[in-house]
Amino acid sequence: VERVFSGVQPTGNLHLGNYLGAIVNFVKMQQTHNCIYCVVDMHAITQGVEVWGGPAELARNTREVTAAFIASGIDARKHIVFNQSQIAGHAELTWIFNCVARIGWLNRMTQFKEKAGKDRENASIGLYDYPVLMAADILLYRATHVPVGEDQKQHLELSRDIAQKFNNDFADSIRGHGFADGLLFPQPEPLITGPATRVMSLRDGTKKMSKSDASDNSRINLTDDADTIAQKIRKAKTDPEPLPSEEKGLEPRPEADNLVGIYAALAGVSKQDVLTQFGGGQFSSFKNALVEVCVAKLAPIASEMKKLVADPGHVDAVLADGANRARGIADETMRITKDIVGFIRPR
Ligand code: AQP
Repeated sequence: VERVFSGVQPTGNLHLGNYLGAIVNFVKMQQTHNCIYCVVDMHAITQGVEVWGGPAELARNTREVTAAFIASGIDARKHIVFNQSQIAGHAELTWIFNCVARIGWLNRMTQFKEKAGKDRENASIGLYDYPVLMAADILLYRATHVPVGEDQKQHLELSRDIAQKFNNDFADSIRGHGFADGLLFPQPEPLITGPATRVMSLRDGTKKMSKSDASDNSRINLTDDADTIAQKIRKAKTDPEPLPSEEKGLEPRPEADNLVGIYAALAGVSKQDVLTQFGGGQFSSFKNALVEVCVAKLAPIASEMKKLVADPGHVDAVLADGANRARGIADETMRITKDIVGFIRPR
């Protein structure tokens, strides 16, 4: 059975984009793959402490993402759920990959440019190195499939380049250690196939829905109650035209396209189905229907999350159990990798 790996940062404000772009797919992959879902707390600290909120906030958010995984239907007993910092291999493999990846490759990463902003000299080395840590996350488990949202596509390509260059650089040593094909690391494939791979901001249809957007009205958080969801959807930016009846009519209308896409994803129907039902009508009645599907889907998740985070001891035990099982796989990869590189270790 092939192995899936994916991660979510515990940086607060888990939103509908994370849910539809990533978590829904995580749940689905459990039927066909061995899955490892990681709360990437080491990625979370790559921006300033004012962004990730400090130690208490980081721990709270780590438990909240874990709760969201479980509440959405991830089976932490059958599959593996853990937080990244519990396994030393993530940092160790990152160092080896730092010496494989090229500065020119990292300089092309658009997410770094976006997150660092104008003051690039003041961004952390960790933020710059984020995609290398991500490659280590995936390849530490020699995962072959990575369900992610559209925004992570470029990082996945970098992971593939790193896997390939490592395999090339150490080809003889890899063969010498019993891998006849000379391939230690697989080329991980992105699975950008969720019901909505790019959910946009409710305030601006050209910007992705994001945890870090200053306006809470730009996103629907997984922890929002029904009234808050209703308010945010009613306030969501639209244009003055009624909804079109055909999908091509959405093309020049990013806000309408986004809301129709969200409805379709939540209701499990196509965008054309939504337009067949609501085309020609005003936004106000469509928005009421959207509030209904949104609340119906998210309210049970929010209430389960609330129960789970009220028992941090239980959540921590889930993470510790997942980490124990993840460590078995990670340690094995690190032993082989260290031997292949030529690092001496006790035997
Ligand atoms: N708007 C989105 N639409 C679809 N998928 C999305 N993802 C994020 N935003 C959207 C996917 O969610 C997964 C977890 O994301 P993450 O928290 O690890 O990193 P991120 O992409 O940085 O998330 P945010 O919410 O957008 O945070 P900020 O504000 O920090 O940029 C990933 O699979 C991602 O693709």
